[in-house]
Amino acid sequence: MTTPIIMPRRNFLKNVAFAGAAVSALPLFNVRAEGTPRKFKVGLVGCGGRGKGATENLIEAAKSLGHEIEVYSVVDFFADRANDVAKKYNIPADRVFSGATGYHDLMAQPVDLVILATPPAFRPAHFEAAVKAGKHVFVEKPVAVDPVGARKFIEIGEVAKAKGLSVVAGTQRRHQASYMKNQFAVANGAIGKIVGGTVSWCGGRLWFKNREKDESDASYMVRNWTSFSQMSGDHIVEQHLHNLDVANWFIGRTPVSAVGFGGRARRQTGDQFDFFSVDYNYGEDVHIHSMCRQVSGTYSSVSEFFSGTEGSTFGGGKMTSAKLAALTVPEFKTHANPYVEEHVYLLQSIVNGTPVNAARTVAESTLTAIMGRISAYTGQLVRWSDLTTNTESPWYNLALSPSAADFESGKVVAPKDDVVPVPGEA
Ligand SMILES: NC(=O)c1ccc[n+]([C@@H]2O[C@H](COP(=O)([O-])OP(=O)(O)OC[C@H]3O[C@@H](n4cnc5c(N)ncnc54)[C@H](O)[C@@H]3O)[C@@H](O)[C@H]2O)c1
Repeated sequence: MTTPIIMPRRNFLKNVAFAGAAVSALPLFNVRAEGTPRKFKVGLVGCGGRGKGATENLIEAAKSLGHEIEVYSVVDFFADRANDVAKKYNIPADRVFSGATGYHDLMAQPVDLVILATPPAFRPAHFEAAVKAGKHVFVEKPVAVDPVGARKFIEIGEVAKAKGLSVVAGTQRRHQASYMKNQFAVANGAIGKIVGGTVSWCGGRLWFKNREKDESDASYMVRNWTSFSQMSGDHIVEQHLHNLDVANWFIGRTPVSAVGFGGRARRQTGDQFDFFSVDYNYGEDVHIHSMCRQVSGTYSSVSEFFSGTEGSTFGGGKMTSAKLAALTVPEFKTHANPYVEEHVYLLQSIVNGTPVNAARTVAESTLTAIMGRISAYTGQLVRWSDLTTNTESPWYNLALSPSAADFESGKVVAPKDDVVPVPGEA
Protein backbone atom coordinates (compact mmCIF):
# COMPACT_ATOMS: atom_id res chain seq x y z
CA MET A 1 0.00 0.00 0.00
CA THR A 2 1.08 3.56 -0.61
CA THR A 3 2.16 5.33 2.54
CA PRO A 4 1.40 9.02 2.96
CA ILE A 5 4.39 11.29 2.54
CA ILE A 6 4.33 13.89 5.27
CA MET A 7 7.89 15.12 4.90
CA PRO A 8 9.58 17.28 2.36
CA ARG A 9 11.57 14.86 0.28
CA ARG A 10 14.99 16.45 0.43
CA ASN A 11 17.27 14.82 2.91
CA PHE A 12 18.03 17.88 4.99
CA LEU A 13 15.06 17.17 7.21
CA LYS A 14 15.81 13.50 7.58
CA ASN A 15 16.05 13.65 11.32
CA VAL A 16 13.20 16.01 12.09
CA ALA A 17 10.13 14.39 13.60
CA PHE A 18 6.73 15.89 12.88
CA ALA A 19 4.10 15.47 15.58
CA GLY A 20 0.81 15.00 13.72
CA ALA A 21 -0.79 18.26 12.71
CA ALA A 22 1.30 20.29 15.13
CA VAL A 23 4.10 21.00 12.68
CA SER A 24 6.77 23.07 14.31
CA ALA A 25 7.93 26.34 12.82
CA LEU A 26 11.08 25.37 10.94
CA PRO A 27 12.98 27.10 8.17
CA LEU A 28 11.86 24.67 5.49
CA PHE A 29 13.87 24.84 2.32
CA ASN A 30 15.07 22.32 -0.15
CA VAL A 31 18.83 22.31 -0.09
CA ARG A 32 20.55 21.52 -3.37
CA ALA A 33 23.64 19.55 -2.50
CA GLU A 34 25.34 19.67 -5.87
CA GLY A 35 28.56 17.89 -4.94
CA THR A 36 31.57 17.63 -7.23
CA PRO A 37 30.69 18.37 -10.86
CA ARG A 38 30.05 15.11 -12.65
CA LYS A 39 29.42 13.91 -16.15
CA PHE A 40 26.56 11.44 -16.56
CA LYS A 41 26.36 9.16 -19.57
CA VAL A 42 22.75 8.67 -20.58
CA GLY A 43 20.86 6.22 -22.78
CA LEU A 44 17.51 7.14 -24.32
CA VAL A 45 14.98 4.39 -25.05
CA GLY A 46 12.21 5.75 -27.26
CA CYS A 47 13.09 8.83 -29.33
CA GLY A 48 9.59 10.32 -29.56
CA GLY A 49 8.13 13.53 -28.20
CA ARG A 50 8.54 12.72 -24.51
CA GLY A 51 11.87 10.94 -24.86
CA LYS A 52 13.36 13.96 -26.58
CA GLY A 53 11.69 16.30 -24.09
CA ALA A 54 12.90 14.32 -21.07
CA THR A 55 16.45 14.34 -22.46
CA GLU A 56 16.39 18.14 -22.67
CA ASN A 57 14.85 18.33 -19.19
CA LEU A 58 17.66 16.15 -17.85
CA ILE A 59 20.30 18.33 -19.51
CA GLU A 60 18.72 21.42 -17.95
CA ALA A 61 18.53 19.77 -14.53
CA ALA A 62 22.21 18.77 -14.70
CA LYS A 63 23.18 22.29 -15.72
CA SER A 64 21.26 23.77 -12.78
CA LEU A 65 23.28 21.53 -10.45
CA GLY A 66 26.65 22.12 -12.13
CA HIS A 67 26.80 18.67 -13.75
CA GLU A 68 27.00 17.60 -17.37
CA ILE A 69 25.05 15.12 -19.50
CA GLU A 70 26.44 13.14 -22.40
CA VAL A 71 23.65 11.59 -24.46
CA TYR A 72 25.71 8.48 -25.14
CA SER A 73 23.38 6.01 -26.81
CA VAL A 74 19.85 5.92 -28.22
CA VAL A 75 17.35 3.36 -29.46
CA ASP A 76 14.03 3.63 -31.23
CA PHE A 77 11.78 1.10 -32.91
CA PHE A 78 12.23 3.17 -36.08
CA ALA A 79 15.84 3.73 -37.19
CA ASP A 80 15.16 7.19 -38.64
CA ARG A 81 13.87 8.48 -35.30
CA ALA A 82 16.95 7.14 -33.49
CA ASN A 83 19.22 8.63 -36.15
CA ASP A 84 17.60 12.07 -35.85
CA VAL A 85 18.35 12.20 -32.14
CA ALA A 86 21.84 10.75 -32.66
CA LYS A 87 22.58 13.53 -35.10
CA LYS A 88 21.50 16.18 -32.64
CA TYR A 89 23.84 14.87 -29.91
CA ASN A 90 26.69 13.68 -32.19
CA ILE A 91 26.32 10.05 -31.19
CA PRO A 92 28.42 7.68 -33.32
CA ALA A 93 26.53 5.06 -35.35
CA ASP A 94 27.78 2.11 -33.29
CA ARG A 95 25.82 3.43 -30.29
CA VAL A 96 22.57 3.97 -32.18
CA PHE A 97 20.09 1.09 -32.19
CA SER A 98 16.68 0.28 -33.59
CA GLY A 99 13.95 -2.36 -33.70
CA ALA A 100 12.08 -4.04 -30.85
CA THR A 101 15.24 -5.76 -29.56
CA GLY A 102 17.59 -2.78 -29.89
CA TYR A 103 17.19 -1.87 -26.21
CA HIS A 104 19.31 -4.91 -25.25
CA ASP A 105 22.25 -3.31 -27.11
CA LEU A 106 21.68 0.03 -25.41
CA MET A 107 21.63 -1.58 -21.96
CA ALA A 108 25.06 -3.09 -22.71
CA GLN A 109 26.53 0.43 -23.12
CA PRO A 110 28.43 2.07 -20.24
CA VAL A 111 25.64 4.52 -19.39
CA ASP A 112 24.89 5.63 -15.83
CA LEU A 113 21.20 6.16 -16.34
CA VAL A 114 18.50 5.49 -18.89
CA ILE A 115 15.33 7.29 -19.87
CA LEU A 116 12.50 4.86 -20.67
CA ALA A 117 10.00 6.65 -22.93
CA THR A 118 8.44 4.18 -25.32
CA PRO A 119 4.72 3.34 -25.27
CA PRO A 120 3.93 1.72 -21.90
CA ALA A 121 3.47 -1.83 -23.24
CA PHE A 122 7.26 -2.20 -23.33
CA ARG A 123 7.99 -0.67 -19.94
CA PRO A 124 8.27 -3.76 -17.71
CA ALA A 125 10.68 -5.47 -20.14
CA HIS A 126 12.79 -2.34 -20.57
CA PHE A 127 12.83 -1.67 -16.82
CA GLU A 128 13.91 -5.24 -16.12
CA ALA A 129 16.80 -4.96 -18.59
CA ALA A 130 17.87 -1.57 -17.17
CA VAL A 131 17.92 -2.76 -13.57
CA LYS A 132 19.66 -6.00 -14.52
CA ALA A 133 22.36 -3.89 -16.21
CA GLY A 134 22.70 -1.71 -13.07
CA LYS A 135 21.38 1.56 -14.53
CA HIS A 136 19.59 4.34 -12.68
CA VAL A 137 16.23 4.94 -14.34
CA PHE A 138 13.94 7.78 -15.30
CA VAL A 139 10.75 6.02 -16.28
CA GLU A 140 7.83 7.65 -18.01
CA LYS A 141 4.35 6.78 -16.81
CA PRO A 142 2.40 4.52 -17.16
CA VAL A 143 4.61 1.56 -16.36
CA ALA A 144 2.40 -1.26 -17.63
CA VAL A 145 -0.83 -1.98 -19.48
CA ASP A 146 -2.05 -5.02 -17.50
CA PRO A 147 -1.93 -6.46 -13.96
CA VAL A 148 0.83 -8.94 -14.83
CA GLY A 149 3.06 -6.15 -16.14
CA ALA A 150 2.37 -3.85 -13.18
CA ARG A 151 3.19 -6.58 -10.65
CA LYS A 152 6.37 -7.35 -12.55
CA PHE A 153 7.31 -3.67 -12.43
CA ILE A 154 6.87 -3.63 -8.64
CA GLU A 155 9.04 -6.74 -8.33
CA ILE A 156 11.84 -5.21 -10.42
CA GLY A 157 11.53 -2.01 -8.40
CA GLU A 158 12.44 -4.04 -5.33
CA VAL A 159 15.50 -5.42 -7.14
CA ALA A 160 16.49 -1.83 -8.01
CA LYS A 161 16.15 -0.92 -4.34
CA ALA A 162 18.37 -3.81 -3.28
CA LYS A 163 20.97 -2.72 -5.83
CA GLY A 164 20.91 0.90 -4.63
CA LEU A 165 19.63 2.21 -7.97
CA SER A 166 17.45 5.29 -8.20
CA VAL A 167 14.11 5.13 -10.01
CA VAL A 168 12.19 8.35 -10.70
CA ALA A 169 8.86 8.38 -12.54
CA GLY A 170 7.31 10.91 -14.89
CA THR A 171 4.43 11.70 -12.54
CA GLN A 172 5.44 15.34 -12.52
CA ARG A 173 2.74 16.58 -10.15
CA ARG A 174 4.71 14.91 -7.35
CA HIS A 175 7.59 17.26 -8.25
CA GLN A 176 5.51 20.43 -8.54
CA ALA A 177 5.71 22.84 -5.59
CA SER A 178 1.98 23.72 -5.53
CA TYR A 179 1.00 20.03 -5.33
CA MET A 180 3.76 19.24 -2.83
CA LYS A 181 2.60 22.02 -0.53
CA ASN A 182 -1.05 20.96 -0.68
CA GLN A 183 -0.20 17.29 -0.16
CA PHE A 184 1.95 18.20 2.83
CA ALA A 185 -0.87 20.29 4.33
CA VAL A 186 -3.47 17.55 3.73
CA ALA A 187 -1.22 14.87 5.24
CA ASN A 188 -0.84 17.10 8.29
CA GLY A 189 -4.58 17.54 8.81
CA ALA A 190 -5.38 20.80 6.98
CA ILE A 191 -8.72 19.57 5.65
CA GLY A 192 -9.32 16.83 8.21
CA LYS A 193 -9.98 13.38 6.77
CA ILE A 194 -10.61 13.19 3.01
CA VAL A 195 -14.12 11.82 2.45
CA GLY A 196 -14.54 12.18 -1.30
CA GLY A 197 -13.55 13.94 -4.47
CA THR A 198 -13.40 14.09 -8.23
CA VAL A 199 -10.43 13.64 -10.51
CA SER A 200 -10.65 14.41 -14.22
CA TRP A 201 -8.82 14.40 -17.49
CA CYS A 202 -11.50 15.49 -19.92
CA GLY A 203 -10.38 17.05 -23.18
CA GLY A 204 -10.38 16.79 -26.92
CA ARG A 205 -9.47 14.02 -29.31
CA LEU A 206 -5.89 12.81 -29.27
CA TRP A 207 -3.81 12.28 -32.42
CA PHE A 208 -4.13 9.02 -34.36
CA LYS A 209 -2.50 7.49 -37.46
CA ASN A 210 -4.09 5.53 -40.27
CA ARG A 211 -2.46 2.33 -41.49
CA GLU A 212 -0.09 2.89 -44.40
CA LYS A 213 -0.16 0.75 -47.54
CA ASP A 214 1.47 -2.67 -46.91
CA GLU A 215 2.46 -1.64 -43.37
CA SER A 216 3.19 -4.48 -40.93
CA ASP A 217 0.94 -4.92 -37.91
CA ALA A 218 3.87 -4.16 -35.59
CA SER A 219 4.74 -0.90 -37.33
CA TYR A 220 1.10 0.18 -37.43
CA MET A 221 0.61 -0.51 -33.71
CA VAL A 222 3.80 1.31 -32.74
CA ARG A 223 3.00 4.37 -34.87
CA ASN A 224 -0.64 4.41 -33.75
CA TRP A 225 0.01 3.34 -30.17
CA THR A 226 -2.35 5.81 -28.47
CA SER A 227 -5.30 4.06 -30.18
CA PHE A 228 -4.61 0.51 -28.95
CA SER A 229 -5.22 -0.59 -25.37
CA GLN A 230 -2.50 -3.26 -25.76
CA MET A 231 0.05 -0.47 -26.32
CA SER A 232 -1.20 2.37 -24.12
CA GLY A 233 -3.49 0.70 -21.58
CA ASP A 234 -6.28 2.95 -22.99
CA HIS A 235 -6.39 6.65 -22.18
CA ILE A 236 -7.60 6.11 -18.60
CA VAL A 237 -4.17 4.53 -18.04
CA GLU A 238 -2.06 6.54 -20.46
CA GLN A 239 -3.30 10.02 -19.56
CA HIS A 240 -5.74 10.01 -16.64
CA LEU A 241 -3.18 8.13 -14.53
CA HIS A 242 -1.75 11.53 -13.53
CA ASN A 243 -4.96 12.49 -11.70
CA LEU A 244 -5.48 9.05 -10.17
CA ASP A 245 -1.89 9.22 -8.95
CA VAL A 246 -2.71 12.46 -7.14
CA ALA A 247 -5.75 10.78 -5.52
CA ASN A 248 -3.61 7.89 -4.23
CA TRP A 249 -0.94 10.34 -3.03
CA PHE A 250 -3.34 12.72 -1.21
CA ILE A 251 -5.52 9.97 0.30
CA GLY A 252 -2.43 7.99 1.21
CA ARG A 253 -3.59 4.60 -0.04
CA THR A 254 -4.82 2.74 -3.09
CA PRO A 255 -8.52 2.03 -3.78
CA VAL A 256 -10.25 -1.13 -2.64
CA SER A 257 -12.47 -1.51 -5.72
CA ALA A 258 -13.83 0.20 -8.81
CA VAL A 259 -17.11 0.25 -10.73
CA GLY A 260 -16.87 1.97 -14.07
CA PHE A 261 -18.68 2.85 -17.28
CA GLY A 262 -17.23 3.77 -20.63
CA GLY A 263 -17.67 3.66 -24.35
CA ARG A 264 -16.54 4.75 -27.75
CA ALA A 265 -18.34 7.66 -29.35
CA ARG A 266 -16.03 9.09 -31.97
CA ARG A 267 -12.66 7.32 -32.04
CA GLN A 268 -11.61 6.28 -35.51
CA THR A 269 -8.81 3.72 -35.23
CA GLY A 270 -7.69 1.05 -32.77
CA ASP A 271 -9.77 -0.59 -30.06
CA GLN A 272 -9.97 1.94 -27.21
CA PHE A 273 -12.88 3.69 -25.55
CA ASP A 274 -12.97 7.45 -25.68
CA PHE A 275 -14.71 8.09 -22.36
CA PHE A 276 -14.74 6.56 -18.87
CA SER A 277 -16.55 7.33 -15.64
CA VAL A 278 -15.42 5.33 -12.63
CA ASP A 279 -16.39 5.25 -8.96
CA TYR A 280 -13.28 4.34 -6.95
CA ASN A 281 -13.99 3.05 -3.46
CA TYR A 282 -11.01 3.80 -1.19
CA GLY A 283 -12.57 2.07 1.83
CA GLU A 284 -13.54 3.82 5.09
CA ASP A 285 -16.50 5.41 3.20
CA VAL A 286 -14.21 7.37 0.87
CA HIS A 287 -15.25 7.51 -2.79
CA ILE A 288 -13.50 9.29 -5.66
CA HIS A 289 -15.27 9.90 -8.94
CA SER A 290 -12.89 9.61 -11.87
CA MET A 291 -13.79 11.02 -15.28
CA CYS A 292 -11.78 10.99 -18.47
CA ARG A 293 -12.76 11.75 -22.02
CA GLN A 294 -11.01 12.37 -25.34
CA VAL A 295 -13.87 13.80 -27.40
CA SER A 296 -13.46 17.15 -29.15
CA GLY A 297 -16.13 19.79 -28.61
CA THR A 298 -16.98 18.63 -25.08
CA TYR A 299 -16.36 20.18 -21.64
CA SER A 300 -12.68 20.15 -20.67
CA SER A 301 -11.18 19.82 -17.22
CA VAL A 302 -7.86 18.44 -16.04
CA SER A 303 -8.05 18.62 -12.27
CA GLU A 304 -8.25 16.97 -8.88
CA PHE A 305 -10.59 18.03 -6.07
CA PHE A 306 -10.90 16.54 -2.57
CA SER A 307 -13.47 17.16 0.18
CA GLY A 308 -12.42 16.67 3.76
CA THR A 309 -14.19 16.69 7.13
CA GLU A 310 -12.65 20.12 7.81
CA GLY A 311 -12.12 21.69 4.41
CA SER A 312 -11.43 21.00 0.76
CA THR A 313 -8.67 21.37 -1.77
CA PHE A 314 -7.75 21.19 -5.40
CA GLY A 315 -4.66 19.14 -6.21
CA GLY A 316 -2.27 22.01 -6.83
CA GLY A 317 -4.76 24.86 -6.41
CA LYS A 318 -6.97 26.59 -3.87
CA MET A 319 -7.36 25.06 -0.44
CA THR A 320 -10.27 25.98 1.85
CA SER A 321 -9.18 25.27 5.39
CA ALA A 322 -9.63 27.02 8.72
CA LYS A 323 -6.64 25.07 10.06
CA LEU A 324 -4.16 26.02 7.35
CA ALA A 325 -3.03 29.25 9.04
CA ALA A 326 -1.87 27.28 12.08
CA LEU A 327 0.27 24.91 9.99
CA THR A 328 3.81 25.63 8.89
CA VAL A 329 3.87 24.38 5.35
CA PRO A 330 7.31 24.23 3.74
CA GLU A 331 8.29 26.41 0.82
CA PHE A 332 9.23 23.60 -1.52
CA LYS A 333 12.06 25.11 -3.51
CA THR A 334 11.81 23.29 -6.78
CA HIS A 335 12.75 24.13 -10.34
CA ALA A 336 9.90 26.14 -11.89
CA ASN A 337 9.39 23.34 -14.43
CA PRO A 338 8.32 20.09 -12.74
CA TYR A 339 9.55 18.13 -15.78
CA VAL A 340 13.05 19.44 -14.97
CA GLU A 341 12.61 19.02 -11.23
CA GLU A 342 12.06 15.27 -11.71
CA HIS A 343 15.60 15.04 -13.05
CA VAL A 344 17.03 17.35 -10.38
CA TYR A 345 15.61 14.92 -7.85
CA LEU A 346 17.09 11.93 -9.72
CA LEU A 347 20.56 13.43 -10.18
CA GLN A 348 20.75 14.63 -6.58
CA SER A 349 19.88 11.17 -5.32
CA ILE A 350 22.70 9.67 -7.38
CA VAL A 351 25.25 12.30 -6.45
CA ASN A 352 24.35 12.16 -2.75
CA GLY A 353 24.33 8.36 -2.70
CA THR A 354 20.77 8.37 -1.32
CA PRO A 355 18.76 6.30 -3.82
CA VAL A 356 15.09 7.13 -4.35
CA ASN A 357 12.59 4.67 -5.70
CA ALA A 358 9.19 5.56 -7.16
CA ALA A 359 8.64 2.15 -8.74
CA ARG A 360 5.92 0.99 -6.38
CA THR A 361 3.93 4.22 -6.26
CA VAL A 362 3.85 4.67 -10.04
CA ALA A 363 3.02 0.97 -10.54
CA GLU A 364 0.19 1.23 -8.01
CA SER A 365 -1.22 4.28 -9.78
CA THR A 366 -0.94 2.39 -13.07
CA LEU A 367 -2.83 -0.52 -11.49
CA THR A 368 -5.46 1.87 -10.15
CA ALA A 369 -6.14 3.06 -13.70
CA ILE A 370 -6.07 -0.51 -15.06
CA MET A 371 -8.66 -1.49 -12.43
CA GLY A 372 -11.00 1.26 -13.70
CA ARG A 373 -10.47 0.19 -17.31
CA ILE A 374 -11.22 -3.47 -16.59
CA SER A 375 -14.40 -2.49 -14.75
CA ALA A 376 -15.59 -0.29 -17.63
CA TYR A 377 -14.69 -2.87 -20.30
CA THR A 378 -16.43 -5.74 -18.48
CA GLY A 379 -19.17 -3.90 -16.59
CA GLN A 380 -18.13 -5.67 -13.39
CA LEU A 381 -16.99 -4.54 -9.94
CA VAL A 382 -13.23 -5.06 -9.81
CA ARG A 383 -11.36 -5.34 -6.53
CA TRP A 384 -7.74 -4.31 -5.86
CA SER A 385 -7.23 -7.87 -4.64
CA ASP A 386 -8.32 -9.17 -8.09
CA LEU A 387 -5.20 -7.56 -9.52
CA THR A 388 -2.75 -8.06 -6.66
CA THR A 389 -3.43 -11.10 -4.46
CA ASN A 390 -6.44 -13.17 -5.55
CA THR A 391 -4.89 -15.65 -7.95
CA GLU A 392 -8.36 -17.15 -8.62
CA SER A 393 -9.67 -13.88 -10.04
CA PRO A 394 -10.29 -13.82 -13.81
CA TRP A 395 -8.21 -10.64 -14.00
CA TYR A 396 -5.20 -11.62 -11.89
CA ASN A 397 -3.37 -13.15 -14.86
CA LEU A 398 -4.66 -10.69 -17.45
CA ALA A 399 -1.80 -10.03 -19.91
CA LEU A 400 -2.74 -8.12 -23.05
CA SER A 401 -1.75 -9.45 -26.45
CA PRO A 402 0.24 -8.72 -28.55
CA SER A 403 2.81 -8.34 -25.78
CA ALA A 404 6.28 -6.81 -25.68
CA ALA A 405 7.68 -10.32 -26.18
CA ASP A 406 5.57 -10.72 -29.34
CA PHE A 407 7.16 -7.57 -30.76
CA GLU A 408 10.62 -8.95 -30.00
CA SER A 409 9.88 -12.30 -31.64
CA GLY A 410 8.11 -10.72 -34.62
CA LYS A 411 4.75 -12.38 -33.87
CA VAL A 412 2.50 -9.35 -33.76
CA VAL A 413 -1.10 -9.63 -34.87
CA ALA A 414 -2.91 -6.32 -34.54
CA PRO A 415 -6.43 -6.36 -33.14
CA LYS A 416 -9.12 -5.28 -35.60
CA ASP A 417 -9.73 -1.55 -35.76
CA ASP A 418 -13.03 -0.39 -34.29
CA VAL A 419 -13.84 -3.62 -32.43
CA VAL A 420 -14.22 -2.71 -28.76
CA PRO A 421 -15.07 -4.54 -25.54
CA VAL A 422 -18.81 -4.86 -24.80
CA PRO A 423 -19.61 -4.53 -21.07
CA GLY A 424 -21.54 -7.53 -19.81
CA GLU A 425 -20.06 -9.71 -22.55
CA ALA A 426 -16.32 -9.11 -22.22
N1 LIG B 1 4.64 12.75 -18.04
C1 LIG B 1 4.00 13.31 -19.04
O1 LIG B 1 3.38 14.36 -18.90
C2 LIG B 1 4.01 12.65 -20.38
C3 LIG B 1 3.72 13.40 -21.53
C4 LIG B 1 3.74 12.77 -22.75
C5 LIG B 1 4.00 11.41 -22.83
N2 LIG B 1 4.26 10.70 -21.69
C6 LIG B 1 4.53 9.25 -21.77
O2 LIG B 1 5.76 9.04 -22.45
C7 LIG B 1 5.68 7.84 -23.21
C8 LIG B 1 6.01 8.15 -24.66
O3 LIG B 1 5.09 9.06 -25.18
P1 LIG B 1 5.42 10.00 -26.44
O4 LIG B 1 4.42 11.08 -26.43
O5 LIG B 1 6.86 10.35 -26.45
O6 LIG B 1 5.12 9.01 -27.65
P2 LIG B 1 5.81 9.05 -29.10
O7 LIG B 1 4.99 8.21 -30.00
O8 LIG B 1 6.09 10.45 -29.49
O9 LIG B 1 7.20 8.35 -28.85
C9 LIG B 1 7.37 6.99 -28.52
C10 LIG B 1 8.63 6.52 -29.23
O10 LIG B 1 8.96 5.20 -28.79
C11 LIG B 1 9.38 4.45 -29.93
N3 LIG B 1 9.19 3.03 -29.63
C12 LIG B 1 8.04 2.32 -29.62
N4 LIG B 1 8.28 1.05 -29.24
C13 LIG B 1 9.61 0.94 -29.04
C14 LIG B 1 10.47 -0.11 -28.62
N5 LIG B 1 9.98 -1.32 -28.33
N6 LIG B 1 11.80 0.13 -28.52
C15 LIG B 1 12.30 1.36 -28.80
N7 LIG B 1 11.54 2.41 -29.19
C16 LIG B 1 10.21 2.21 -29.28
C17 LIG B 1 8.46 4.96 -31.06
O11 LIG B 1 8.95 4.64 -32.33
C18 LIG B 1 8.44 6.45 -30.76
O12 LIG B 1 9.48 7.15 -31.41
C19 LIG B 1 4.28 7.28 -22.99
O13 LIG B 1 4.27 6.34 -21.97
C20 LIG B 1 3.49 8.49 -22.55
O14 LIG B 1 2.38 8.16 -21.74
C21 LIG B 1 4.28 11.31 -20.49
